[in-house]
Amino acid sequence: MKKLKFGIIGCGRIAGRHAKWASEYGSLVAVCDIIAERAEEIANEYSCEAFQSIDELIEKKLDIDCIAVCTPNGLHAEHSIKLLRAGYHVLSEKPMATSVQDSVEMIKVAELTNRRLFIVKQNRYNPPIAALKKAIDDGHLGRILSMQLNCFWNRRASYFSESDWKGSKVLDGGTLYTQFSHFIDLIYWLIGDVRDVRAFVSNSNHEGITEFEDQGVAILEFYSGVLGSIHFTINSCNKNMEGSITIFGDKGTVKVGGQFLNELEYQEISDFTIEGLPEGNPPNQYGTYVGSMSNHDKVYENVVDVLQGGGVIGTVGIEGLKTVEIIDKIYRAAQR
Ligand SMILES: NC(=O)c1ccc[n+]([C@@H]2O[C@H](COP(=O)([O-])OP(=O)(O)OC[C@H]3O[C@@H](n4cnc5c(N)ncnc54)[C@H](O)[C@@H]3O)[C@@H](O)[C@H]2O)c1
Repeated sequence: MKKLKFGIIGCGRIAGRHAKWASEYGSLVAVCDIIAERAEEIANEYSCEAFQSIDELIEKKLDIDCIAVCTPNGLHAEHSIKLLRAGYHVLSEKPMATSVQDSVEMIKVAELTNRRLFIVKQNRYNPPIAALKKAIDDGHLGRILSMQLNCFWNRRASYFSESDWKGSKVLDGGTLYTQFSHFIDLIYWLIGDVRDVRAFVSNSNHEGITEFEDQGVAILEFYSGVLGSIHFTINSCNKNMEGSITIFGDKGTVKVGGQFLNELEYQEISDFTIEGLPEGNPPNQYGTYVGSMSNHDKVYENVVDVLQGGGVIGTVGIEGLKTVEIIDKIYRAAQR
């Protein structure tokens, strides 16, 4: 079977993961970054073409199947839409976009151009999360009653000062978009859509460093009647402490924790046990900080399965939109 051809827009920190797996699961044909050296570094490593502008890359009409958008959050919509219109399938990094309207536009353009739009949500592949999803879907936890999400990470001032977009309201969007959108995706995926929110946020320890909150609390009511709470912060002392979700069903209670929702910390399920979990991948390491579990291999496997094997997209555009909608509801509730 013909190898899929990939491209990457935005050659920063996460692009290395994409380049690795794009070249393992297919071949990397072109990369692009407004900072020439960044594109050239990856291009030299993978022997592919480097571009300094997305328009130049599109004008070249290269034979590429799917292009990964790894630019700052606030540019995902503009870049994805350009690429879809140019005829490419698109794999957008999380978060899909930083507004509901942009997310809807991306889905609409993908439909109108008959291209596939994939959203990176690799935490769904964390072994305990995948097992919890299956246990819920198979009915082992019974009726879901309530949930709690803890996002206790550390992002110090240098994390923001070393970046030209992190901390910016327009290009970053907020901690729920950059640090915790994976976690919000998981509550949508595991439990469902959120009807109503009450929330407070504040910038308590990053004044003058970020243009938005560094901590927040939210209480949620899901359409299903499930009640939930979220406590999120980037002020955990010195390092990430915990990323966890606890779910209470009428037949079972499960907590998946660790720093990145990577450990099954507690289970008490009537007539069922989650067991035999495979070893997970390590988290993404970025020198001075640590990110989410590194499952981009699974994301690329899915892209190949969909584009070549007639498989089903792991995270479709509408799910990316739902994450953005829930985040938007939390931020709007905090303004009331
Ligand atoms: N899935 C994950 O776990 C994960 C982890 C880290 C980052 N991300 C996401 O990936 C994206 C990139 O994050 P990062 O940490 O790699 O950021 P980064 O700043 O290291 O890289 C972004 C790159 O985009 C380039 N860029 C900006 N505007 C551009 C344009 N118009 N055309 C071409 N290139 C342009 C920048 O020069 C930079 O090199 C963000 O959306 C982030 O939220 C996802």
